[in-house]
Amino acid sequence: MDLHGKRLGIVGAGNMGAALMRGILKAGALTPEQIIITTRRPDRAQRLSETYGVQSARDNISCATQADIVMFAVKPQIMENVLQDIGPHFGNRLGISVAAGVSTHTMELALGGAPRVIRSMPNTPALIQQGATAVSKGAHATDEDLELAAHLLRQAGRVVTVEESLLDAVTGLSGSGPAYIFLIIEAFADAGVKVGLSREVAMELAVQTIQGSARMVQETGQHPGQLKDQVTSPGGTAIAGLHTLEEGGLRTTIMNAVEAATRRANELGRR
Ligand SMILES: NC(=O)c1ccc[n+]([C@@H]2O[C@H](COP(=O)([O-])OP(=O)(O)OC[C@H]3O[C@@H](n4cnc5c(N)ncnc54)[C@H](OP(=O)(O)O)[C@@H]3O)[C@@H](O)[C@H]2O)c1
Repeated sequence: MDLHGKRLGIVGAGNMGAALMRGILKAGALTPEQIIITTRRPDRAQRLSETYGVQSARDNISCATQADIVMFAVKPQIMENVLQDIGPHFGNRLGISVAAGVSTHTMELALGGAPRVIRSMPNTPALIQQGATAVSKGAHATDEDLELAAHLLRQAGRVVTVEESLLDAVTGLSGSGPAYIFLIIEAFADAGVKVGLSREVAMELAVQTIQGSARMVQETGQHPGQLKDQVTSPGGTAIAGLHTLEEGGLRTTIMNAVEAATRRANELGRR
């Protein structure tokens, strides 16, 4: 992906905006000189500028107009106002939003004209460059725009492309997913304590088991059912545990959780 000579503006370099910035710099996708940022409090942008060598702009319009690609990483509630301010100066730039629940249609209306916009739904592990992000393009963006946005977001983890109508489902699965997994990790650690392990040891084993199992699925490319069968010996311990999980309706519970979160994302998006 040729980003040579391109400049990226990050409007709202908070947790997510700064995490993406760090990922992009770490991967060498852009140099610090190619990145311009803004935040609400100038001292935060100034601190990031001193730490990472990126430029901090005096306001959002100046940030956007110095850039070829503008990443919008402010909170969803203020996104429309921020876009409306920048709109008259936006021109033919590419806009990428990471805000939950703000549709490309809303972005297009707020910016005005026929802007090229991409909407994405990242999740919190993007903060440590281990995110799962879905992207979709607005009415005026091209396939190349989508690929460019995916390339930038890939610096903070994995990226998939979906139809915009499926972004609520993405919110239900990977967007909200870290919360489910954190709960599962906590439950595993509690379980370890219940069977006599110290909290510290139980937590370490729980986290590493989840991480190792996830990486095994990714790296072997094998179906998780197949990997499960490989650790389940006749009359053994794993099958006894699996029986209990099935009895408790684990699969149904997880499916219900993702479905409930998807419905909620849809409700919030319609407000
Ligand atoms: N955090 C996540 O895990 C996550 C996951 C998925 C999607 N997202 C999306 O990412 C976006 C940002 O979330 P966040 O968690 O990174 O929030 P955050 O840490 O509060 O970052 C928001 C940033 O926007 C800045 N800001 C506020 N008003 C501004 C304005 N008028 N002009 C320019 N910058 C302004 C804030 O400046 P100050 O620092 O000076 O207050 C802050 O740096 C949200 O839309 C959210 O939906 C976040």
